Amino acid sequence: MRIVTIVGARPQFVKAAVLSREILRRKGWHEILVHTGQHYDENMSSVFFAELQIPTPKISLGIGSGSHGQQTGRMLEAIERVLLEHRPDWVIVFGDTNSTLAGALAATKLQISVAHVEAGLRSFNRQMPEEINRVLTDHLSNLLLAPTAAAVANLRREGVDEDKIHLVGDVMCDAILHYRRTAMEQSTVLDRFQLTPQQFVLATIHRAENTDDPRRIQTILDGLLEVARQFPVVFPVHPRTRSALERFGLWQAACKSLRVIEPVGYLDMVMLEANAHRIVTDSGGVQKEAFLCGTPCITLRDETEWVELVAAGWNQLLSPDDPELQSLLTAAIERPEPAECTAPLYGTGDASTHICNSLVQCPEAKAA
Ligand code: UD1
Ligand code: UDP
Repeated sequence: MRIVTIVGARPQFVKAAVLSREILRRKGWHEILVHTGQHYDENMSSVFFAELQIPTPKISLGIGSGSHGQQTGRMLEAIERVLLEHRPDWVIVFGDTNSTLAGALAATKLQISVAHVEAGLRSFNRQMPEEINRVLTDHLSNLLLAPTAAAVANLRREGVDEDKIHLVGDVMCDAILHYRRTAMEQSTVLDRFQLTPQQFVLATIHRAENTDDPRRIQTILDGLLEVARQFPVVFPVHPRTRSALERFGLWQAACKSLRVIEPVGYLDMVMLEANAHRIVTDSGGVQKEAFLCGTPCITLRDETEWVELVAAGWNQLLSPDDPELQSLLTAAIERPEPAECTAPLYGTGDASTHICNSLVQCPEAKAA
């Protein structure tokens, strides 16, 4: 089995880490890992390869940042060249970034089968670039590897062939189960930032609809500043967010009252997530990791794709458009912990195995 796996952005390195390990275990399977270069800072990219022992990408395209069209277009051209040379049986793409869409589109145009990991997620908000990327990638893909029952239901509603949909669980659950112990043993993040377990709030913000709207980012910052009156707020800042805070003149205020830090590696992040009193985020991955670490989460968005967490009471949505956000956020931070949820919402840590089994079972693979 010859596979080309496309990664480019931070969460995709975490997802690929566990799947690549499973692929490597299988006799006769050969993976070419392609890094588009969408994320390129040391702490947004190489730290993950080192810590998670992901094989160095065989091909680095070095695309870098740009407008959506520019970035996706450059990736499309470069990925096509790779696929023409290597002609794999499968192209694997993850999630909903521009790297995902470029990989799926390049492969489909060359009649190469595409497997989409994290298929079927929907926010039903077409203002989000990620929603466009997911919908298009799902409808291009030959194999839709859904992480949750809700994702399967979304795909059925859109008329996707039943044979193409495989409920496999979530590779991010595999990752946290695999790396949690290492994180607890190796991470020194609590000491480095003098943090006491359960006595701090962890915050991450990076969604374009939050960072690029001056009103929303101001409201979010005001909310975090209010929380900081009660708890230290540890805020590893994504480069998009840093540049937005600087652009809107909010950077100094953030640095003055929040524990603003550079993005951290995955092991430090898991350590922070597991020890935080509460997590405030707009990240998809962090919402799930919060639950998997047993830390209640507040999501600063109008909607979420991970609806089962809201239903279980482990995630609370607050809109950054709400003028009452400050008081709502402090009330949410004080809310008692929800009842324990033992349902395996994201599988049992074997999504990677199911994914590889699906690649073999799929008619496209049998024909290859
Ligand atoms: C991208 C994904 C988003 C995902 C996120 C994960 C798209 C459309 N968005 O958003 O779905 O949740 O990654 O983190 O694909 N930058 C740096 N250094 C880097 C990377 C980015 O400085 O290593 C800066 C650049 O100024 C760049 C900006 O961050 O323009 C945004 O990066 P980009 O990859 O376009 O989008 P993200 O916001 O990271
Ligand atoms: N993450 C990390 N360091 C950070 C922030 C996030 O290692 O400073 C990890 C996080 O644990 C999760 C992934 O990055 O595994 C989530 O990525 P991100 O929030 O950038 O994107 P999203 O999941 O929203 O697409």
